[in-house]
Amino acid sequence: MQAPIRLHSDEPSAFQVPPPLSLYVHFPWCARKCPYCDFNSHAQADGELEAAQLRSRYLQALREDLESALPAVWGRTVRSVFIGGGTPSLMTGEEVDRLLCDIRALLPLAPDCEITLEANPGTMEAQRFRDFRAAGVNRLSLGIQSFDDDQLTRLGRIHDGRQAVRAAEQAGQHFERFNLDLMWALPGQTVDQVEVEPFEMLPGLLGRPHRLPPIVDAAQPCQLVVVERLDAERQPVHTGPRGSRGSAAPPSCPDWLPA
Ligand SMILES: C[S@@+](CC[C@H](N)C(=O)[O-])C[C@H]1O[C@@H](n2cnc3c(N)ncnc32)[C@H](O)[C@@H]1O
Ligand code: SF4
Repeated sequence: MQAPIRLHSDEPSAFQVPPPLSLYVHFPWCARKCPYCDFNSHAQADGELEAAQLRSRYLQALREDLESALPAVWGRTVRSVFIGGGTPSLMTGEEVDRLLCDIRALLPLAPDCEITLEANPGTMEAQRFRDFRAAGVNRLSLGIQSFDDDQLTRLGRIHDGRQAVRAAEQAGQHFERFNLDLMWALPGQTVDQVEVEPFEMLPGLLGRPHRLPPIVDAAQPCQLVVVERLDAERQPVHTGPRGSRGSAAPPSCPDWLPA
């Protein structure tokens, strides 16, 4: 008699699940170029119509770029998307929706995929944050730099401290997860400023779980002060190798697919 065909086996499958991917999407324009910035970012076109046309052509080019990369990543699931810049918050909610729809149409996204978008407090409107959230963005990365008006002016930023606070509060309202980029060891910046600013400006956010990036060179004295302060406030503090460009980062997922 012929042995029955086994449909299921406990032996390991000969097929391996391909490792997941993280997708980085670059948006190259800003309201104005900051003098200290080393990123591939450029002042946007003066007229809103021209700027919008360029964004539309760029979104089309991104889609085509991703299509051409598909054979290299076939079968792999995306576990995080980071839309960085530049200032992606210059996009409208509809444009972010178009971008994410294109990505979803071409690549399988994990159900818990983290989707981050970088925003500048000077381009922030509450409605736009709502629209980004509705489009599928579930984490915001805010370029605060400092809450001090003099420091912000010296940095050539387009926003002041009040706008930075408002943007952080709005981020907290619309997003469960967000990060604040803060610059430490700026010329003339005191440890006192570092210690006081974030905590006094955002008392409402202090109670939320948070983590800090690793302690490094020039920022070390300032960062130690902040860590001590957080310990004193009895907040959970995490230090680790994860920066602002994605919190679901990679040890087991070393591949980044730039778009
Ligand atoms: C590429 S920007 C995107 C956010 C947004 N464009 C903004 O500035 O608000 C991300 C972060 O990079 C940091 N950054 C810019 N220039 C830098 C430089 N030369 N060295 C280190 N960090 C820098 C800033 O903290 C900024 O918030
Ligand atoms: S807004 Fe952000 S990306 Fe643009 S120039 Fe300034 S720091 Fe760089």
